[in-house]
Amino acid sequence: MDLQDKLLALLSENQKKIEDTSELADLDKIRVNLLGKKGPITEVLRGMKNLEASERPKVGSFANKVRDDLQAAIDARRGDLRADAINRKLEKETVDVTLPGTPTRVGTPHILQQVIDDLSDLFLGMGYQIVDSYEVEEDHYNFEMLNIPADHPARDMQDTFYITKELLMRTQTSAAQARTLERHDFSKGPLKMVSPGRVYRRDTDDATHSHQFHQMEGLVIDKHTTMADLKGTLLAMAQHVFGAERKIRLRPSYFPFTEPSVEVDVSCFRCGGKGCAVCKYSGWIEVLGAGMVHPNVLTAAGVDPEVYGGFAFGVGPDRLAMLKYGVDDIRSFYTDDVRFLEQFHTEG
Ligand code: PHE
Repeated sequence: MDLQDKLLALLSENQKKIEDTSELADLDKIRVNLLGKKGPITEVLRGMKNLEASERPKVGSFANKVRDDLQAAIDARRGDLRADAINRKLEKETVDVTLPGTPTRVGTPHILQQVIDDLSDLFLGMGYQIVDSYEVEEDHYNFEMLNIPADHPARDMQDTFYITKELLMRTQTSAAQARTLERHDFSKGPLKMVSPGRVYRRDTDDATHSHQFHQMEGLVIDKHTTMADLKGTLLAMAQHVFGAERKIRLRPSYFPFTEPSVEVDVSCFRCGGKGCAVCKYSGWIEVLGAGMVHPNVLTAAGVDPEVYGGFAFGVGPDRLAMLKYGVDDIRSFYTDDVRFLEQFHTEG
């Protein structure tokens, strides 16, 4: 075999070998063996001294070409192997965007807040303003301005936490009545407000009593407001909360700041009035207190009771929520057990 044939055989055999390598380290070995000082190409070139002088340039340049081709094949293969390695790595490290993520727990407004928001929306729709008032209140607004002077027996039912002799945790949102009445400018129009918030009483906590609960006060003062307006308003509220078929009835009652005063019952939403466990077989459920604002309250706030008058009511969101959702222990609202709260999850 002459040198050229030897070179050709070397080329084709090694091109195949290079193609077949799958590891960069193997490729390196091939390169060293093939093109190194002790490799076959060097050997061929060394053998040239035995050739005719006229043959040498031809064989020499052929040998160089073979070496260049092999080098090129090695370089190309190296490029491919490197690209493969990168691709493999990329594949291994890709983030699967279709994998479901770790779910975050989405909270929901507290059920009492939902009831308060719902009532607020109802009254906003009827043209009332929403008033936010103080939880730490002066004796003056919580009692005095509401026709409950010191030593009045009505204070007994509303004992509370005193900060000082004059400052207390308010026992009723009615304190917001007094404050709003005092600052309202009647030359600008009638007063229609609701005021939701927390109230406090020195109660022993049990299933139906909590030392902290909620009320929403309502107050409407205008020139010609009657008890029929009060009844219509309360009927609208009862039907909004408990269903369009509900009826209400007013029973005489007593509050120092309203005269006449009433307890308001709503026909039972569970049995429709026939009598069941929810309404204690009476057909009616007591839901709130109300009445026509006492002239003394108007006078105390600087409003002339000969010209202005109106009604007030106080409703308990805790009680409404207990009735509507069948919650049998008021303390559930305040212990913040997520299992309880989650039942009232609302979307959005
Ligand atoms: N403030 C009264 C209470 O806590 C409820 C009420 C409000 C009654 C407004 C009449 C008018 O018992």
